[in-house]
Amino acid sequence: MAQLLAIESSCDETAVAIVRGSEGEPLQILASEIASQIPLHREHGGVVPELASRNHALRLRGLVEAALRQADVSMAQIDGFAATIGPGLASSLLIGSTAAKAMACALQKPFLAINHLEGHLCSPFLTVGSVPPHVALIVSGGHTMLLDVLGIGQYRMLGSTRDDAAGEAFDKVGKMLGLPYPGGPEVEKAARMGNPRAFDFPRSMVHGDELDFSFSGLKTSVLYTLQRMHGNFPLDDIAASFQQAVIDVLVKKACLAVEQSRHQILAISGGVSLNRALRLALEEASAKNNFTLAVAAPEVCADNAVMIGFAGLLRFQRGMSSLLEEDIHPNLPLATSQDSPHQLLKTR
Ligand code: KG4
Ligand code: ZN
Repeated sequence: MAQLLAIESSCDETAVAIVRGSEGEPLQILASEIASQIPLHREHGGVVPELASRNHALRLRGLVEAALRQADVSMAQIDGFAATIGPGLASSLLIGSTAAKAMACALQKPFLAINHLEGHLCSPFLTVGSVPPHVALIVSGGHTMLLDVLGIGQYRMLGSTRDDAAGEAFDKVGKMLGLPYPGGPEVEKAARMGNPRAFDFPRSMVHGDELDFSFSGLKTSVLYTLQRMHGNFPLDDIAASFQQAVIDVLVKKACLAVEQSRHQILAISGGVSLNRALRLALEEASAKNNFTLAVAAPEVCADNAVMIGFAGLLRFQRGMSSLLEEDIHPNLPLATSQDSPHQLLKTR
């Protein structure tokens, strides 16, 4: 059974995990360390790239040592080193990937360059130990996309956002409402007390067979509503109505993608998939439309290294590895609409 050490440092979380597994068996998480930088960035209202990378560099060594201790394994017992190489902030990606390469080089073990989005996509299947054919809805701070997935590395893009990501819209609306960064969890908290039908915010691009998303019109509509109210607004009702508009769009398009692809499974991942109202709405849709909903466990929805280790392990088990010369790629795509999911994505 192989065991990998994985590093995630694409944005503002420094994470290290040690995972062990065989394909088709539940992943064993031997260690999962996450050092969140949220308090550091909160006072700036968003992520400051230089602060993020400097803190990755400061925290990483301690996290690797803590993970080895927690897993009770030695460096020599690690079979390979995986790290996120994109998409993400260049200076942040560089820290984690360089650390993983250095360890791989020193121990003469394979290095596995992992696409952050592939990590999210795999995360609902940790307990299965493999990635079945399905439709993936990835909803994070930087990305919103629907993919046709045949297995690990076999993806076709069905739709993606043309402007803001769903999480980004949550964060921006949170900021408009005067809530702390990141806005997603704060907006959800406020929405619990509000009326989702109080404001009729727009649901963009929901007519026809279109699987692309757009959230900037919704965000602007919230802004204009707030401006009209001159600072005296029902925060909970606005949060609930905004959240409902995002959920309606995500559910509608996810169901359409399942119908078009004829897969039986819809899997959701990424930070926004922590949203309980979204999960509930998708559970209802899955019961109504007869498909299975696969969700990631809450501890692996937001950025973490377990998902990077799992994606790395699935590649490692196929004899795949990456060159130490592999660069970081801040805009690394996962797939295009032209890709055939029958072709295995060879590198990364
Ligand atoms: O996957 P993730 O941790 O990082 C990226 O890869 O972007 O996602 C972070 C995003 C942020 O925009 C955050 O506000 C959002 O996920 N998020 C939520 C919730 N928890 C986190 N959005 C809505 N509801 C939540 N409960
Ligand atoms: Zn992420």
